[in-house]
Amino acid sequence: MAGHLHPSLFEEFSRTEAPPSAEDAVGAESGFAGLPWRVAHYPQFRYMGSKHRLLPWIHGVLSGLKFETAADPFVGSGCVAYLLKAMGKQVTASDFLNFPAVLASATIANDEHTLDAGTIRRLTAPNGGGSGFIESTFSGIFFHQNDLRFLDRVTQNIRKLERPEQRDLAKAAVIRSCLKKQPRGVFTVSGDLTRYDDGRRDLQLSLEQHFLEQVEIFNRVVFSNGRRNSAFRADVFAEREERPDLVYLDPPYVPRSDDNCYMKRYHFLEGLSCDWEGVRILEKTKVKKIEKPYTPFSYRKHAAGAFDRLFQRYRRSLIVLSYSSNGYPDLDRLVEFLGRYKGEITVHERPHRYHFGTHAAVERAETREYLIVGQ
Ligand SMILES: C[S@@+](CC[C@H](N)C(=O)[O-])C[C@H]1O[C@@H](n2cnc3c(N)ncnc32)[C@H](O)[C@@H]1O
Repeated sequence: MAGHLHPSLFEEFSRTEAPPSAEDAVGAESGFAGLPWRVAHYPQFRYMGSKHRLLPWIHGVLSGLKFETAADPFVGSGCVAYLLKAMGKQVTASDFLNFPAVLASATIANDEHTLDAGTIRRLTAPNGGGSGFIESTFSGIFFHQNDLRFLDRVTQNIRKLERPEQRDLAKAAVIRSCLKKQPRGVFTVSGDLTRYDDGRRDLQLSLEQHFLEQVEIFNRVVFSNGRRNSAFRADVFAEREERPDLVYLDPPYVPRSDDNCYMKRYHFLEGLSCDWEGVRILEKTKVKKIEKPYTPFSYRKHAAGAFDRLFQRYRRSLIVLSYSSNGYPDLDRLVEFLGRYKGEITVHERPHRYHFGTHAAVERAETREYLIVGQ
């Protein structure tokens, strides 16, 4: 299978190729030592706060806990929820943004539906134009005309697919294509982006070429773990019946400087995921941003109370919280809050370096990463 791929993809896959036998973990040479082998297939996203590189550590901690059902209500790029699925757990994945929910529907809830050659042909086929909404709205902002036209075409074709799982899988492929082609991995800068062109292959490929590669990558991610997993869009505090054995909490933390707004950085992916339906574009902004939804985790004066409410909400579940020494409130405060609901608290700690943002920001991003377990 890997032999049909472009060399750089081959490298991505040869590293991650599934062991053919029942051996359930990948070897040390993969960088994913000890993880269920499927996890190494999960595509890495340049997503703020992604825990992709911490998965072996997170897996080590989760493996020591007893649980069958798990929720990941801040699912983001989906890698931790996918780890939980690969561990054989029944997973509920959600996020208050739509595009992480689409990614999770495609990869966590979806047990079997992939995109075959005929469907891929239908997805990329000319379809007589249509509204050209993406081309007319985003012209001169992020992508060249050919790429924008491809996005109009493929998103219209996606709508014609009957199966929602296939629509989500195709959208996931479009989303990751756009992220790869955006030089800085965020949709905050616009116009002439040639100054960021360092010759990377990702910047040379058209979005259509990316899409074809991404479809292959996402097809490989689809599997059934024999459980009924679910994915949806929801605010973590929304009313719903839910009592997972374990909840993995990875909310945004309020940084010392800068903001932590996901919509500001990924509005284009959010729009793609819902065809810009039901959202409000802020027309006066240069990059045609979407209005951001409120979350208490973005504000210093609301964050502490939100953590307390979060722990209260999941007080009947085993709580595993990802956190960083960079965040507000600090570790001691969080442990104090968690202690209101849990008798036994363990803090696992390790150094971590986020590869995100400008050079200065990356330097700031050398932090300690915590996994706080409350039982
Ligand atoms: C740190 S990221 C999660 C990263 C994820 N664990 C990963 O590895 O990719 C935090 C996520 O929380 C989501 N979020 C922020 N406020 C939320 C809220 N009130 N309810 C649900 N999700 C929220 C953001 O959209 C973002 O995807």
